[in-house]
Amino acid sequence: MWDEGRLRYGGDWNPEQWPVEVWAEDVALMRRARVDLVTVGVFAWSRLEPVPGRYDLGWLDRALDLLADNGVSAALATPTASPPPWFSLAHPGALPVTADGVRLRHGSRDTYCAAAPAYRAAARRIAGVLADRYAHHPAVALWHVHNEYGTVCHCEHAARAFRRWLAARHGDLAALNAAWVTSFWGQHYSDWAQVDTPRATQYLANPGHLLDFRRFWSDTLLAAYVEQRDLLRAANPAVPVTTNYVLGDWVPVDHARWAAEVDLVAIDHYPSAADGRAEEQTALAADLARGWARHGARRRGGTGAPGAGWLLMETAPNLIYTDGRMHTKEPGRMARHSLAHVARGSRGAMYFQWRAPVGGAERFHSALVPHAGPDSRVFRETVALGAALERIAEVDGATVEASVAIGWDAASGWALRHPGLPSSRLDHHGEVAAAHRALWRAGFGCDVVLPGDPLDGYGLLVLPALYLASDATAGWVRAYVAGGGHLLATWLSGVADEHARVRTGGYPGALRDVLGVRVEEFHPHADGDAVPLSGGGTGRTWAETVHLAGAETIRRYAGGVLAGRPAVTRHRYGAGTAWYVSTRPDDDTYRRLLADAALDAGATPTCPGAPAGVEAVRRRSAGGSWLFLLNHTDRAHRVPAAGVELLTGAPVDTAVEVPAGGVAVVREAPAAPRPGRRDRSAQSGGRHNDHGTPCRDGTFR
Ligand code: GAL
Repeated sequence: MWDEGRLRYGGDWNPEQWPVEVWAEDVALMRRARVDLVTVGVFAWSRLEPVPGRYDLGWLDRALDLLADNGVSAALATPTASPPPWFSLAHPGALPVTADGVRLRHGSRDTYCAAAPAYRAAARRIAGVLADRYAHHPAVALWHVHNEYGTVCHCEHAARAFRRWLAARHGDLAALNAAWVTSFWGQHYSDWAQVDTPRATQYLANPGHLLDFRRFWSDTLLAAYVEQRDLLRAANPAVPVTTNYVLGDWVPVDHARWAAEVDLVAIDHYPSAADGRAEEQTALAADLARGWARHGARRRGGTGAPGAGWLLMETAPNLIYTDGRMHTKEPGRMARHSLAHVARGSRGAMYFQWRAPVGGAERFHSALVPHAGPDSRVFRETVALGAALERIAEVDGATVEASVAIGWDAASGWALRHPGLPSSRLDHHGEVAAAHRALWRAGFGCDVVLPGDPLDGYGLLVLPALYLASDATAGWVRAYVAGGGHLLATWLSGVADEHARVRTGGYPGALRDVLGVRVEEFHPHADGDAVPLSGGGTGRTWAETVHLAGAETIRRYAGGVLAGRPAVTRHRYGAGTAWYVSTRPDDDTYRRLLADAALDAGATPTCPGAPAGVEAVRRRSAGGSWLFLLNHTDRAHRVPAAGVELLTGAPVDTAVEVPAGGVAVVREAPAAPRPGRRDRSAQSGGRHNDHGTPCRDGTFR
């Protein structure tokens, strides 16, 4: 089962790809590396059910027994992401159809339509067989349903299901016509039979149609997951159930909404940048996962589920594909990335995959046991990481400290991918990433929040390009600021309602009153264009004609047609403050701006003494606090801290040395400062942290 106070470690193990002699070596190596959780059977449907209705489970019995005998648990997968060839032959109507009307054939994975009744029935059957046989197997600690839900389809099954979903969402065609503004280009529907999936069409598609299609697929895939989950749960409620999320706003899955239906949020994260961006991507992915898990627990009305929290389910130990080649992770990076996830709340570190295969599409994908075998750098690092995770296991369950909240919204991400927008460079996820990167570099811990989430305890709420704002979302923002909260919203926020209909009267639509501005015109930039800002720095991508409606100007455009007009504003609203940023500042300017707003709001950086390139994350529980220091530079750094460094066991008096490219985890001596808002009456200029030492206005990173 899922033990508390222990960090899980392992990866995808594929016994079906290897003779049994290799299994014996595998478990011996797992023990050596202290691996204690492996995902089993994730694509093994054709081996488990080689012909329809005939099951070959003997090999899985032996594999799970072997794991149990060796103290390794299984995240037992349902293999429904890879239907067997016989299924596709027997049910050609369940193969997926693209927007162009091409029916895809068997030959890769994910060749199914999750709205096709035959597929759903077959998926339930194989999940039920596994539930009956293994729900009480001593090795099974977690159910891993499917793999990376995200496949969409435009077949007739999908179209019928889409119509049913639309009828449930909108009630009648009049409401659908209004929501999609079908009066434009004469798209008015007079019969449900006229409504199709948004297939390839002659020119620009209808944005409301596209947005609802994404929502429909999120709900349909969720229903497919839930029916498997319910079977597994019924067989043994003590075993938690999850599915691994694939990240990116191309995925038609609202991960936050799904989080209410999983016992443990699990993410796959493959940062693709060969440079330092991978560290920033890692921090954001982990903060997103934690935000989704918190949101899901709240929607469920508590955190009672076993294994609640989140887990890094897959990442690459080494080679990762980017820019037309695979790049090799340099020594230490695998551990640093995994420990960065643990710092931000992951309940362990899992990899794709345990052993590199000799064939198949991903034969050169990296693995903990590479083609070279255990006598390899990667396997030695695997062993060292297993030992490190054991030494820091006491952090499991501790809360991650954050003084700033960043808003994220799947639907805003989807809506900004549509054609017909004022620029093709608009990207909600990219803007969330830019704001997160700026705060990460300035050393502030961030939580990701969803519209409607509680905001107590955050100094600052940042809303980057929150394009869709329902009246409820606008009310949530208004109440937060009116009650004394500090908000920083960027361009494109509040522009449209939940159906992607533009709000009239001036942008940023739903948030005009709270921000105290009225935007009359957009000025989208060409690639490489930059407009100078007063006080230094530039604005990229976008600019706006901003009129003040109660706000004051903090920075102006200092060139071009907008010269002299407001670029960044601040508005007192109720007891709070609302900043508006009408352009995308360059990275350095954005870091300073966000650091200023955060400090003014009383937010505190995690470790003001950390030098540039050393990431600091603090976790707390009733029992104490832990400071993770991740050195992303190629030289050692000393960082102020006091307590015990857990990886070495060495006492730390006033500072700890963090090796080049390495990590330190300090169990802190009592009395570390609390994060979040400080008493504003005590602020004198907002430039001191709770240690009483001067901060460098966000320039320490
Ligand atoms: C993941 C997937 C794995 C494997 C991996 C390769 O998205 O779940 O099965 O394909 O990518 O990086």
